[in-house]
Amino acid sequence: MKHLKTTLTALTLAFGVAGFAHAAPIEIKFSHVVAENTPKGQMAIKFQQLIAERMPDKVEVKVYPNSQLFGDNKVLEAMILGDVEMAAPSVSKFNKYTKKLQIFDLPFLFKDMDAVDRFQQSDSGQELLNSLKKKGYVGLGYLHNGMKQISASIPLQLPADAKGKKFRIMSSDVLAAQFEALDAVPLKKPFSEVFTLLQTRAIDGQENTWSNIYSKKFFEVQPYITQSDHGVLDYLVVTSTEFWMGLPDDVRADVKTALDEAIVYGNKVANDKAMADKQAIIDSGRSKVIVLSDDDRQQWVESMKPVWKQFEKEIGPELIQAAVASNQ
Ligand code: LMR
Repeated sequence: MKHLKTTLTALTLAFGVAGFAHAAPIEIKFSHVVAENTPKGQMAIKFQQLIAERMPDKVEVKVYPNSQLFGDNKVLEAMILGDVEMAAPSVSKFNKYTKKLQIFDLPFLFKDMDAVDRFQQSDSGQELLNSLKKKGYVGLGYLHNGMKQISASIPLQLPADAKGKKFRIMSSDVLAAQFEALDAVPLKKPFSEVFTLLQTRAIDGQENTWSNIYSKKFFEVQPYITQSDHGVLDYLVVTSTEFWMGLPDDVRADVKTALDEAIVYGNKVANDKAMADKQAIIDSGRSKVIVLSDDDRQQWVESMKPVWKQFEKEIGPELIQAAVASNQ
């Protein structure tokens, strides 16, 4: 009897405690490589805020900027291992996982960010979100940064000026081919190393958006920036299929809604920053912005565009056609 009583008391206590105890919120670690005052940095913070407002007991988002947790070369592996739940690497960094996303790296493919938007919202663009499925990732959405410019330690007015110079690129074969087409030397390096490589003159230049050139202070160590708008820097927000499908249905739906809203916000920041950060660089007087005449620009187009043919088979001619059509 005493034994029964003790057991009952223990059970009551156990259930009592369980009744009051809350399960810990599901943690989403969001890792990225850029500064907080960038489109991606702001999007991640907005996502964190929306989740904190709407579902504080269920989910907690922790944001790790500036390659604090993982660089883009490690983050995707870490995601499969369950060490990080979300990231938004640039589409150029999925080279190892799918050839299709290389489309975004083709030089002079999109005339502006509206064209990028139209392509991404088209059926072909939406299908690309699934291109990592076989590798265990879910593409949750695209996020913009902006058009890329080329910064250098020497003035680059014409493509021939880049001959023999070393440029840091993201880990993309298309981008390598793009600089090789200029008879330049491309070097695949992590984003976190770019400032030092430029500062020490180990390399001559790099390509990036106004926002990244400004927030990472590349303009302080690169006296020239050619306003080439030759390519796009865009991101794919990804998670692992295992994590995503393991979420309860209602939680997954609410997290996705918050993320979609954060992406809309991030895209607005991208738009504003492309102009504001360019102006801030000009105002600093540290770097001269080189504007191309139509004829000069045409020379850049003619030098870089043959890269399309090199990758047409891997990417698929129809996909390239769909992207070209988005310029209208
Ligand atoms: C880069 O490596 O230059 C960019 O992908 C960094 C970023 O995430 O914007």
